[in-house]
Amino acid sequence: MNRSILSILFLLGHTPAFSQVDYKVQIEPIFYDKCSACHTSGGSSGGLDLTSYSTLMAGGNSGASIIAGDNQNSLLWKRINDGSMPPSSNDVITSNVELVKKWINEGALEKPSIQKNEITQIDNFSIPEDSMKTLILEANDLLGNAVTFEVKSSNQNINISLVSDTLTIKPKSDWNGFATITAYASGSTWRDSSIFIATVVPVNDAPKPFFWNTVKSDTINITKDNLTSTYGLEWTESVDVDGDSILYILFASTGPSSKVEVYRTSNTTHLIPYSDFLQKTFEQLSVATSATVYFTLSAYDGTDSVKISRGDRELYINRYEYLSVDSQGIPDKFALHDNYPNPFNPSTQIRFDLPKMTSATLTIYNMLGQKVKTFYMQNTPAGYQSITWNATSDLDVPVAAGVYLYQLQTEEFVKTKKMILLK
Ligand code: HEC
Repeated sequence: MNRSILSILFLLGHTPAFSQVDYKVQIEPIFYDKCSACHTSGGSSGGLDLTSYSTLMAGGNSGASIIAGDNQNSLLWKRINDGSMPPSSNDVITSNVELVKKWINEGALEKPSIQKNEITQIDNFSIPEDSMKTLILEANDLLGNAVTFEVKSSNQNINISLVSDTLTIKPKSDWNGFATITAYASGSTWRDSSIFIATVVPVNDAPKPFFWNTVKSDTINITKDNLTSTYGLEWTESVDVDGDSILYILFASTGPSSKVEVYRTSNTTHLIPYSDFLQKTFEQLSVATSATVYFTLSAYDGTDSVKISRGDRELYINRYEYLSVDSQGIPDKFALHDNYPNPFNPSTQIRFDLPKMTSATLTIYNMLGQKVKTFYMQNTPAGYQSITWNATSDLDVPVAAGVYLYQLQTEEFVKTKKMILLK
């Protein structure tokens, strides 16, 4: 049998011999219980303060109370052994008198000098939801042998990964609560554990992304007869993992001005009567025959809000027919008129005549011949039409000053004119 196996057997067989008295755990409580009522700071009773290790070792009026390694000459031990302390019948029980003796004879240390085979205790901790924590596990093996770790969680919502001594604790996404986690350390002859609680503190989760079900650009023609018609906006539901109810907030603007809140709903659709556009959209544009309204939407859970994905919806509203008086009638031929004003800044109106219902495209080019902005007009009714260009590109970016061409195109008609944007 080699030496190290022998010493393991020795350790195993004589564990009690190794259990050194621990001052903090075993001795101090005796003094707190039986002595500190009198032997407190200030040391009035014989000048001895028994409330801490350092004051105990400082001794009292008679000098040192403890002689390390020598219980027979330690005044404190003598006085509890002969029963004179405490000075009442409330004596220290024999087993504790023996414990104090053993402690003195082991050297009267504040901390045990002999280490144990053990895992270093892990404190409880809290982390916010959707975050993780990494810990390095430590253990002491008296023989200096390798220690292996193992970790278990009481709760499956906490994922645990252990690579050698590195423990990563990662709660499942959006989960909060707590788990009791036990870390084990095993040496060749021993196993020890540390139990700790990991608390995952709830954090509000923003509503999930959501999308338009409405086409990106659309056109409506308001006439005297269709004021009760509605234009519908529609979107997909935004889910909230915390189970909060979602409020959708609709924002709108006319042209490039900043959007204002126009409606709140918990539904995923909103119908806007044409008459509303006449009142609200054209409120500041009393003579305009057309306007473009941009919509965006936010989903709000009471704490966080998320903007709808994939950009604004754009609605081109033509109310030429609504404004037209009957005598104006229907033009007898296609025409593209000079824009007004010209030169212009920041916007200009482009008028054109359609003698019959048709699909038309009005395209604006820069002087390099590049397309800057396109207005698609599906099934536009016959009449005197107009659109307003606010000098922005298809991407809604303001364009540079300069000369631009505008071209109207239908199946039967193409015409191009020039205009000047000043800055
Ligand atoms: C009811 C009060 C009281 C309690 C409880 C008490 N003592 Fe005392 N102790 C005294 C007084 C008073 C003296 C000083 C007179 C004397 O030496 O008898 C004293 C003196 C001592 C002395 C001598 C100090 C010196 O340097 O002269 C020691 C040692 C001592 N006590 C230890 C203890 C211990 C240990 C306990 C608890 C197990 C204890 N006492 C509990 C009142 C108390």
